[in-house]
Amino acid sequence: MPAPATEQPSAGPVPRHVAVIMDGNGRWAEQRSLPRAAGHRAGARTVRTTIEHSVRRGVAALTLFAFSSENWQRPAEEVGVLMQLFLEALDREVAELDAKGVQLRFIGDRTRLAPALVARMVAAEARTAGHRQLDLVVAVAYGGRWDLTQAARQLAGKVEAGTLEPGMIDEAALGGCLTTAGRTEPDLFIRTGGERRISNFLLWDLAYTEFWFTDTLWPDFDESTYEGAFADFAHRQRRFGRTAAQLGSS
Ligand code: FPP
Repeated sequence: MPAPATEQPSAGPVPRHVAVIMDGNGRWAEQRSLPRAAGHRAGARTVRTTIEHSVRRGVAALTLFAFSSENWQRPAEEVGVLMQLFLEALDREVAELDAKGVQLRFIGDRTRLAPALVARMVAAEARTAGHRQLDLVVAVAYGGRWDLTQAARQLAGKVEAGTLEPGMIDEAALGGCLTTAGRTEPDLFIRTGGERRISNFLLWDLAYTEFWFTDTLWPDFDESTYEGAFADFAHRQRRFGRTAAQLGSS
């Protein structure tokens, strides 16, 4: 049987920062009459290959949505499986990420996570701090609205303490209080699994991001699919509010 056609690496610019909603694990498992947990385990393997391909292609930053504020509403058993999977993935992968020069950080509401998991997250962040090959952020117990709310609370606290004038609150001040502060905004947003929505992911940060959707379920997302997203991105004209004519003359 001939090998499936593989998308060649695109010639155009590679996005510096890619943000991904990894959707479709459950359906992938159900299509195979497997428990949903098997889909999440397969999804974890795709996380690894996606990180590897990002490093190969020179992507500078990758943000993965692993568990949303709303995912707490899933059946307790599935939440437990996912938390266990995060723990195991950390134990298994951190040494490899460290060796590859990947800096790993987490965003999200840690107060809702088990202390044992938080301890592993903190240790992984410390171990990989300062690496420059890839800035990998995993969003766990994260929601864009949660992030904006906690930022507003910080600003209100500063106003109450007398260290900030309300009139001084601008986009930089608010952006600086988000858990994503200091990172470049995503250039490319990818959602697998066929849905066309952002599901409370990086609401502030995606303002000028290019969106790319695929019906491919996350466990089936491979290099070729990733290259398809890069190829499409390479043809986008990013105007950031300007006209095409302005871009042509700049
Ligand atoms: C969405 O698929 C996926 C999740 C809620 C979990 C994402 C987790 C992983 C990819 C596993 C491990 C991650 C790390 C960072 C090690 P879904 O369950 O909503 O799928 P469905 O829409 O088909 O039901």
